[in-house]
Amino acid sequence: MKISVIGAGNVGATAADAMACRRIGSEIVLLDIKQGFAEGKALDMMQTATLNGFNTKIIGTTGDYSKTANSDVVVITSGIPRKPGMTREELIGINAGIVKDVTMNVLKHSPNAVIIIVSNPMDTMTYLSLKSSGLPKNRIIGMGGILDSARFKCYLSLALNCSSNDVDGMVIGGHGDTTMIPLISKASYNGVSVSAFANNDILKQVAADTMVGGATLTGLLGTSAWYAPGAAIASLVDSVINDQKRLFPCCVYLNGEYGQSDICLGVPVVVGKNGWEKIIELELNEYEKSAFAKSADAVRNMNSVL
Ligand code: NAI
Ligand code: 2OP
Repeated sequence: MKISVIGAGNVGATAADAMACRRIGSEIVLLDIKQGFAEGKALDMMQTATLNGFNTKIIGTTGDYSKTANSDVVVITSGIPRKPGMTREELIGINAGIVKDVTMNVLKHSPNAVIIIVSNPMDTMTYLSLKSSGLPKNRIIGMGGILDSARFKCYLSLALNCSSNDVDGMVIGGHGDTTMIPLISKASYNGVSVSAFANNDILKQVAADTMVGGATLTGLLGTSAWYAPGAAIASLVDSVINDQKRLFPCCVYLNGEYGQSDICLGVPVVVGKNGWEKIIELELNEYEKSAFAKSADAVRNMNSVL
């Protein structure tokens, strides 16, 4: 199975590395516009094959989309981060141009691919990619909720002083500091509600830390994170490539589900070889319902900039 990753920067390259190390796919193509950059990253990664014990072929290219031909999955991470003095509208304008252009180029060579959108603002870029490509809705998936849920589980395990592998939790809504909704009411420690182990104030703090999880890392690193985003992308690609039917929160097109239409937003979906295959409608409490509606309003506002 063939996977292409557009944008060989921090997130794209880390996703490719994670996929190779986890033996997801037989061929990975990295594409970037910076001369020689994707080729360099691909060659460096290929030189870890004997060390990490994988057989995946990794190819890099500067802008040659023919190398991505017949990909089963394409991950779009290309874009620019916000620079000082730049308005949100300017950033959306630049990244929208890039994401739209990249989606079209990808589809010329891989008309049947499932497309995963990572570039920010991710919910808006997913909507744009879907609308501009005219693809069936199940083939465009925005990745944000898997990462936010991994951060949620990390903060929960620290608060409960337990293994993160025993913690379950999900974040739905938009992939933004004020739009994401960590579902504390459904979080559990091996099936037991987390409220049995931590008081309300502690759990509120976990939710708050999760919501600014990306911003905290940007503050520490000077740019946005890449290890957890790369690993989250690899898990999503794995479920498509290997038809695993995993249940992940992903940004998908809503057509009445959760009371929303004509918007791409994070909800739990089953992911398999056809992309997202089914939306799972959770029973939300009143607070969560209202937060979801507010999240949709904020994302719709952002979409209107398009
Ligand atoms: P980066 O700057 O390290 O990499 C971006 C790469 O895209 C650069 O190498 C650049 O040359 C390339 N690029 C720009 N225009 C291109 C084009 N037209 N065609 C091909 N390549 C192009 O940035 P990083 O850290 O990898 O982040 C990438 C994007 O992912 C950003 O928009 C970031 O905000 C977003 N992000 C989203 C996350 C999510 O959960 N959805 C998590 C982390 C980052
Ligand atoms: C993150 O959540 C900024 O989307 C990026 O790390």
